[in-house]
Amino acid sequence: MLFSLKVNLFFGNGITKKTFENRYIGRMQMANSSSEKTIVTIDGPCASGKSTAAKNLAKALGFIHVNSGAIYRKIGMEAAAQGIAIVPENGQTIADMAKTLNFRFELQNNQCLLVANDTPVGVEIATEEVGNLASKVSSLPEVRTVSTAVQREAAQRYSVVLEGRDAGTVVFPNAPYKFFLDASVEERTKRRLLELEKIGRTENLNFDAVREELAERDHRDSSREHAPTRQAQDAILVDTTNLSAVEVVERMINYVRSNQN
Ligand code: DC
Repeated sequence: MLFSLKVNLFFGNGITKKTFENRYIGRMQMANSSSEKTIVTIDGPCASGKSTAAKNLAKALGFIHVNSGAIYRKIGMEAAAQGIAIVPENGQTIADMAKTLNFRFELQNNQCLLVANDTPVGVEIATEEVGNLASKVSSLPEVRTVSTAVQREAAQRYSVVLEGRDAGTVVFPNAPYKFFLDASVEERTKRRLLELEKIGRTENLNFDAVREELAERDHRDSSREHAPTRQAQDAILVDTTNLSAVEVVERMINYVRSNQN
């Protein structure tokens, strides 16, 4: 019932953007003030469409979009800035450093931001270099423990659409709605190039180099020992290769709608 109300809001006929936003904000406040929180997980490889889908789905449901990759990106960036080598022997040192960042997800202007020591983490983490550092720190189990706690804490305060690699397998194995998004490596490379252009990172943009980097990162993320990228047994697979962002979110909403209690 709660879901159909919110879903109708997203696709309702004849409502203006302003009305939608007013109602959406109202819904969001309502969903997050209720003591009953719901969790939707979205996992998948790099540039499979997770962020767009998670944002759209969260908006439709009136939930909060939590991007767990931001935690690993910030930790990777900070480890590099402090000159700490990202190797297994430094797992505890990096995890201890991560704890000093006092991560928290916070709602600011109806957007969920990762905050480190009261400062919102910004676009500086959006580069490929930081993505690679994130991929490396994320293979350290001590670091994953810190990140998992931050994600679980956010889900105690909000109903969330949580985006990650192990959201449905490790962080919230009992989540009622789980998705795994995938797409061909060519399509994912195109999307990543567009994203990089959007943030002005146009230097050295080369299709083959970006594709190779994506493939390498995916391999590292899916073959690591701890919490590899994996589709949970009970997650719904959505191949986004030939789907628009609207089609992806429609499929997810239809699934949620037909499976709500
Ligand atoms: O989703 P992203 O590109 O921002 O993630 C950056 C890296 O962080 C990714 O290569 C793997 C890692 N990661 C992870 O291991 N677990 C998560 N829940 C999220 C990201």
